[in-house]
Amino acid sequence: MKYRALAIDGPAGAGKSSVAKMLAKQLNYTYVDTGAMYRAATLKALALKVDLDNPESFSFLDNTKMEFMHEVLYLDGKDVTIAIRSNSVSNNVSVVASHIPVRNRLVALQQKIADKNHVVMDGRDIGTVVLPNADLKIFLTASVEERAKRRHAENVSLGIDSDLERLKKEIERRDQIDSSRSYNPLRVAKDAIFVDTSAMDLGEVTAMIYDLYKKKIDEKEEQPEWKTTNNPIKN
Ligand code: DC
Repeated sequence: MKYRALAIDGPAGAGKSSVAKMLAKQLNYTYVDTGAMYRAATLKALALKVDLDNPESFSFLDNTKMEFMHEVLYLDGKDVTIAIRSNSVSNNVSVVASHIPVRNRLVALQQKIADKNHVVMDGRDIGTVVLPNADLKIFLTASVEERAKRRHAENVSLGIDSDLERLKKEIERRDQIDSSRSYNPLRVAKDAIFVDTSAMDLGEVTAMIYDLYKKKIDEKEEQPEWKTTNNPIKN
């Protein structure tokens, strides 16, 4: 069976996770928040007190379990939804995500999930590295100002301490690290559709992507190869 995949990439706070969650619900697909996986790796590294700057500190990931169930990420069996949003994780995750062994391990895990499930997957390198054959690739972005406001509102709703000006600076810093790292940086896939969400609400963005995706899938299903392999009458 061919599993379907919708890839959504973009910088922090562009609205990827809210949009991806809504799309996964509408399509009845598994939502895979790859940023949460890098955060979980950071959380565990902080708990183990390993040297975060050393790529070789992360061999513990070989014995680490990460599973998504109903939008919740379980790290070694424990729900870490709130813990991975703490300031200490947010401030260290870019460095952790820049290490080659960390990326290789998490990309392999992400590909394994997509091998067995229809997925909406969001991150920075989904269309370029993790799922280069995704059925549709979207690159979502928005101004730094707008992205900081959205992250602030999300933090407040989760009961996390939040300061708008500081968030702006952190977002700029993380953009810088995420797009300038040498291994799998944040970049737009050649065949991705670029969407600036600064002046759109998340409902509008979701509806737009849903329509684009359905159209793409309908086109694929109309292709002759698809019909000959799946429709017994035509075989
Ligand atoms: O989307 P987020 O803010 O939760 O992502 C956390 C960090 O992980 C961010 O610094 C970028 C990094 N990341 C990455 O390098 N590759 C991904 N596929 C997803 C996130």
